[in-house]
Amino acid sequence: MSERGGIVVLDFGGQYTQLIARRIREQQVFSAILPCTAPLSEIRAYEPAGLVLSGGPCSVYDADAPPCDPGVLSLGVPILGICYGLQWIARTLGGKVERALRREYGPAEIELRDGSPLFRGLPRRLKIWMSHGDHVLDLPPGFHVTGATGVVTGGVPGHALSAAEDSARRIFAVQFHPEVRHTEHGTEILRNFIFGVCRAEPNWSGASFIAETVETIRKMVGDERAICALSGGVDSAVAATLVHRAIGDRLTNVFVDTGLLRGKEFEETIALLQERVGLQVAGVDASERFLSELAGVIDPETKRKRIGAEFIRVFAAQAQWLSGPGSPIRFLVQGTLYPDVIESVPVRGPSATIKTHHNVGGLPKDLPFQLIEPLRELFKDEVRAIGLELGLPEEMLRKHPFPGPGLAVRIIGEVTAERLATLRQADAIVVEEIRRSGWYEKTWQSFAVLLPVQSVGVMGDERSYGDTVAVRVVDSEDAMTADWTRLPWEVLGKISTRIVNEVAGVNRVVYDISSKPPSTIEWE
Ligand code: XMP
Repeated sequence: MSERGGIVVLDFGGQYTQLIARRIREQQVFSAILPCTAPLSEIRAYEPAGLVLSGGPCSVYDADAPPCDPGVLSLGVPILGICYGLQWIARTLGGKVERALRREYGPAEIELRDGSPLFRGLPRRLKIWMSHGDHVLDLPPGFHVTGATGVVTGGVPGHALSAAEDSARRIFAVQFHPEVRHTEHGTEILRNFIFGVCRAEPNWSGASFIAETVETIRKMVGDERAICALSGGVDSAVAATLVHRAIGDRLTNVFVDTGLLRGKEFEETIALLQERVGLQVAGVDASERFLSELAGVIDPETKRKRIGAEFIRVFAAQAQWLSGPGSPIRFLVQGTLYPDVIESVPVRGPSATIKTHHNVGGLPKDLPFQLIEPLRELFKDEVRAIGLELGLPEEMLRKHPFPGPGLAVRIIGEVTAERLATLRQADAIVVEEIRRSGWYEKTWQSFAVLLPVQSVGVMGDERSYGDTVAVRVVDSEDAMTADWTRLPWEVLGKISTRIVNEVAGVNRVVYDISSKPPSTIEWE
């Protein structure tokens, strides 16, 4: 199985931990992230070809420095310590680490020495991305220096030791971050570790993942039935398609029309998944129920809570109805992704924060189902690749993200049928023009927001008093941060002209030029 023989990354809470795993998977080698507190038995269960000890925000001297079993250093597999990983190894094996008063980040230049297998085939000098936490003063017995830093560009002095190893025990450590693009030849350094040192096999591929997952689901479900809540988005569609491969029409998919979807999304998604993918989809029109739940509601959090609660009621009722007494449905399919499940050590730092999602698939745990989460080992781009391999249409896989609470969080103020119709029309124009101008693939999201602001305008010779639409287009890699897209004026002009001409009641269009943070992508 290709999840065996990969590289386990032990997470000390570093901001680049996920990036390390991604870079390894880019080499077709499976990589799992485990908290640094993981018991040795859990690490061994992966039968790893090697271990990476990640960076982290702490000093090895902090009282709350994340603990890790020193036994990881004698599992008999090669180890690569990165940044904090280096310091932890040095301290644990009897070296001397000097506490730094504050951390510094930045570019530096490393000079490589002594022909380490980690740096095979690389030039003697490399630009690297440093993260100066504590510095290693004395190496533990058996280690020698394999790379030293000169002067950090920008005038900040670098620290002498930036790479070291114990060749006999196959323990390697670097002070810098090979997983970050700013480090020259960073990928080659990781490749040298993965293939040269660990001798891992590049057998992690979409095809092998699909074959194994389908087999696992088949065994798990036996001849029972499963249900899946589709959202219209990529994750639930890919999860459903995988399960369908395994158990065919014993999977029933439910797609709830909340009345808060974009124009035609409900009908088009059902048609596409039924006709082109062969899934069985039960469409449930619950738009009236959601609208009445939202009547008079202005507060964004109340909107989200009411939508979430109503969704659960509708879905649970549907599941019960589909289940029937003779053949109850015991399994629930969810499109949970890896970033949502990575369990982390409670240290300061970004990887310690697990993102809270308000997903239509995020149903409560007390529903009477056993969960099937076929994507819980995957990152978003890997999900797209698997979807492609499964034959899902590209237009579905390239779709911009759409929030679970739908257009309700893009109508500021009360959500009514009339305001939904206005927003739908404006939104369709935004997306159409963004697609037509070739910007859809280049941006993360593009949509319209209906504001509770009316202003004076002139239409023909008449005074008008109409609504305002804000256009939001952003670039992002992971939605954690985002920047507004510098669209050409012509594209913005076209969008504006079309909206005021074609959408009744709208006489003003504005472009949102705020980045995240401090703004969020959605307005509510
Ligand atoms: P914010 O507005 O927090 O959004 O910057 C970040 C990303 O998440 C999407 N989003 C949601 N997705 N359920 C979802 O499935 C939600 O409740 C939700 N709220 C925001 C948003 O569209 C953006 O891509």
